[in-house]
Amino acid sequence: MKNKIVGDMPPEEFRKSGHELIDWIADYLINIEEYPVLPNTKPGELKKRFPKNPPENGESVEEILSDIDRKIIPGVTHWNHPKFMAYFNSTSSGPGILAELLTAALNQNGMNWKSSPIAAEMEEVTLDWLRQMLDLPENFWGIIYDTASISSLHAIASAKTQVEHERKDKNLLNKLCFYFSEQAHSSIEKDALFLGIKKEHIRKIKVNKDFKMIPEVLRNQISKDIENNLIPFCVVATVGTTSTTSVDSVSKIAKICSEKNIWLHIDAAHAGIAAIVPEMRFILNGVEHADSIVVNPHKWLFMPIDISVYYTTKPNILKRTFSLIPEYLKTEQDNSAINYMDYGIQLGRRFRSLKLWFVIRYFGVKGLRSIIREHIRVGKLFEELVSNNPQFELLAPVPFSTVCFRAVPNRVISEAQLNELNERLMNEVNRTGKVFLSHTRLYNKFIIRLVVSGIRTKEEHMLEVWALLQKTLSKLIGNEY
Ligand SMILES: Cc1ncc(COP(=O)(O)O)c(C=O)c1O
Repeated sequence: MKNKIVGDMPPEEFRKSGHELIDWIADYLINIEEYPVLPNTKPGELKKRFPKNPPENGESVEEILSDIDRKIIPGVTHWNHPKFMAYFNSTSSGPGILAELLTAALNQNGMNWKSSPIAAEMEEVTLDWLRQMLDLPENFWGIIYDTASISSLHAIASAKTQVEHERKDKNLLNKLCFYFSEQAHSSIEKDALFLGIKKEHIRKIKVNKDFKMIPEVLRNQISKDIENNLIPFCVVATVGTTSTTSVDSVSKIAKICSEKNIWLHIDAAHAGIAAIVPEMRFILNGVEHADSIVVNPHKWLFMPIDISVYYTTKPNILKRTFSLIPEYLKTEQDNSAINYMDYGIQLGRRFRSLKLWFVIRYFGVKGLRSIIREHIRVGKLFEELVSNNPQFELLAPVPFSTVCFRAVPNRVISEAQLNELNERLMNEVNRTGKVFLSHTRLYNKFIIRLVVSGIRTKEEHMLEVWALLQKTLSKLIGNEY
C-alpha cells in the first residue's frame, strides 16, 4: 500500500512508470506471436479475478502494472497479432499507439475551436491530407467520428434534413424510403431504425452473383415507391461489403440518385482505404456524384480504434441538422472558425486527428500504399492456393484481401454436413490459438473468411494458416467424413 497523496501522481513517479509501461508495450509487440490470438476463457471467468469492492487505499503503479500479465492479458483478444484474420482487423501501429498516449496527455476536448484550436485545425489539415490520398474532389469536407456506424448515422440524418428542407415539411418520417443492398452492413439498417424510418420502408436491394447491388432493381423499387406516394430519400452503396468485400457500382447508383434527387452515401468503411493505392482508386469511381462517404482509418490504416472519417459535399446540411448552440458554448470565434460540435451529435470530442498526423507522417503515403498493396498481394495468393486445391472452394470474388472460402472434401456430403464441417474446421483452427478466422453465411452456406489487413501480417503468416487449415481438415475428414 502506498502513502496517502493528495493530488495527482508525482511527475517523477509518472516518468518512471511511463518508461516501464512503454517497455512493457514494446515487449508485448515483440512477443505478440507468442500469445494465443483468442484468449482461452469463458464468459464470467475473468471478472472473478478482480476484487468485488474498489480499493479503499491507493495502490502503487508497480502493483497495478504487475496485474496486466496476470489479470488483463488472459482476457485479451490479440487484434495486433499477425494471424488475427477475422472480421475486418484493426491494428495498432507504433506511431498510432504513441499518438494515443499523447492524446490522453494533452487531453484536448475539441468541442469548438476555442476549446482546442489545435484539435480543430489539425482535423482540417489531416482530413484534407486523407482526402488527397483518396483522391476525393476538393468539395468533400471531412469530420472525424468514432465509428462508421456513427458516420453513417450522420449521413442518413443529413439526407432526412435535406428532403424535409426541400419539401418544407418536417413531418415526412412516415413516408421516407431508404435503400441499401442486402449485403450492406447491419449498422446501416440500425441507423435508419434509430432515426425513426419505418421498418416497412427499408428496402434491401437484391445483389447479383458477385454480391453487388443490382442498380436496375434499385431503380424499379424507387419508381414503385414514388408511384405509391412514398418519398425515397437516401441510398447507401457499399464499397467493400462486410461478408465478401463486394463493391457496388457507385457510378450507376449515383446516376439513379441524381435523376431522382436522392442522397447517396457510400459506406467504404474498410475497403475505401485501399483507394489510396492508385491502381485501386477505381473502386471509388463515381464518388464525385455522391453526397457523402465514410472510411475508417481504424480498420485499414493502422490506427488504434477508434477513428472513422466522414466526408460530405454538403456540410451545411450536416450543420443544419446538428447545430444547436446554447449561450454557454458561444465564443467570439464562432464566425471565423470551424466548431466541429456543430456537425454532429457529440459535444465532447477526442483529439483523434493526432493519430492521422502521426501515422501518415511516420509511414508516408508511399509507405502506407506499399503495406496495403502487400496485403492485397498476400490475399490474392491465398485466393490462388484455395482455388488450386480441390478440397476447398472460393465462394466470392476477391477484390481486395478478404477471401471467402470453404472446405469441400472429395467425398460427396450434403450441404448441411458441409456447413457443419466448415464450422467445425473454423472452430478447431481457432481453438489452436494460432489464428483467428471468422465466418459469414451466404445462400445458407457456412463460409470462412480470411482477411489480410493487419500491419504485422506477412505472407508467411498466411501460409501458416493455410497449412493449419489443410492439416485440420485432413484430421476432421479422417475422423468422420
Ligand atoms: C462495410 C462496413 N460498414 C460499417 C461497419 C461498422 O463499423 P464500425 O465498427 O466502425 O461502426 C463495418 C464493420 O465491419 C463494415 O464492414
